[in-house]
Amino acid sequence: MKNGSSPGRASGLTGRQWLACLLVASTLVGCSQEPPPPPKAPPTPEEKSKNTISKAPFGTLPDGTAVDLYTMVNANGMEVRASNYGGIITALLVPDSSGKVSDITLGLKSFDDYLKNPPYFGAIIGRYGNRIAKGQFKIDGQTYKLPKNDGANTLHGGLKGFDKVVWQAEPFEKEDSVGVIFTYTSKDGEEGFPGNLQTRVTYTLTDKNELSFDYHATTDKPTVVNLTQHAYFNLAGDGSGDVLGHEFTIFANEYTPVNKGLIPTGKIEPVTDTPFDFRNKVVLGSRINDTHPQVKLAGGFDHNFVIRRKEPGLALAARVSEPSTRRVMEVHTTEPGVQFYTGNFLDNTLAAKPGKPYAKHSGFCLETQHYPDSPNQPEFPSTVLRPGEEYNSRTVYTFSVR
Ligand code: GLA
Repeated sequence: MKNGSSPGRASGLTGRQWLACLLVASTLVGCSQEPPPPPKAPPTPEEKSKNTISKAPFGTLPDGTAVDLYTMVNANGMEVRASNYGGIITALLVPDSSGKVSDITLGLKSFDDYLKNPPYFGAIIGRYGNRIAKGQFKIDGQTYKLPKNDGANTLHGGLKGFDKVVWQAEPFEKEDSVGVIFTYTSKDGEEGFPGNLQTRVTYTLTDKNELSFDYHATTDKPTVVNLTQHAYFNLAGDGSGDVLGHEFTIFANEYTPVNKGLIPTGKIEPVTDTPFDFRNKVVLGSRINDTHPQVKLAGGFDHNFVIRRKEPGLALAARVSEPSTRRVMEVHTTEPGVQFYTGNFLDNTLAAKPGKPYAKHSGFCLETQHYPDSPNQPEFPSTVLRPGEEYNSRTVYTFSVR
């Protein structure tokens, strides 16, 4: 304090008044004093293994915005790291059948590498996941034009989709789960889409080793919405080679064939007697080089499967198992489709997290979604969202061992 003045002097009290105050205060304190709390007992094993979340700086965007990385850990030691930049999941640590924990999601070395992220590793995809033909669509007779970022078409929301924006993040810890609520307002006209879209995506890691994504959106003008998550998986461990030994079951009786630009032809074809029949467990390697024109055209699988469902709500879309680690992943979703993508565009060029570059088929994606190009395909379930309506979608990835 300046000039060595005491608090009493500074407030203008005389020495006697000051002393009186002290006496009164100490009496008051004495009266209200309760016995000190007993020393805290060391945490029980249950308390120790509670679900927790922590936050650390991740990087800085070219415009100076700092972004964070949230680390969620559940009671079983399963761990998810996700950034408020694009909602990108950078790591997913899951135990195998012997209890060994490995990172099973593909990613890039540093934050700066994620500024480009051509494969969309781990990111939230929006406002429209997958392709919109010729970068345009009509609602109520009005044409909207979008930037074309995939040949003649628009892919994953355009040049700056939801994978490249900074989301507001609100972490939470609950008794049986932990997570982050990401929110973002996409402006009217952003990437050509009409309407201010209020978007919320909640990542939840439960103590049952489920990682769920709850998507919610509202708009103030009619628009199209198709949100998904673009994590790539290798259940044998990131960097352990290709996923051709993984076994896939996809609960779909039909799929949507595509043309050269990977735009659906509009047909919904049965999977029966085609390499798209994954209704019984299939080792991917036995199908990836199939001579079927659709598999050749995509260089593997990059197709929307129509999820078999009896009623609305969560339906089992796919199950994947990896024989050497015995890890199993199940995908449940409220969406009508899932894009099964076998990393066909991975070409050894990226700064891959494990050091060794990612070759073709180093990972797979199961992107739950409405069908690609729905805004131009009247026969497909609609992706139009109107003012007053709510977009709600839920997907759960469950990890276990067999
Ligand atoms: C989706 C698409 C693929 C490809 C990847 C990203 O899975 O369907 O064609 O664009 O995203 O590389």
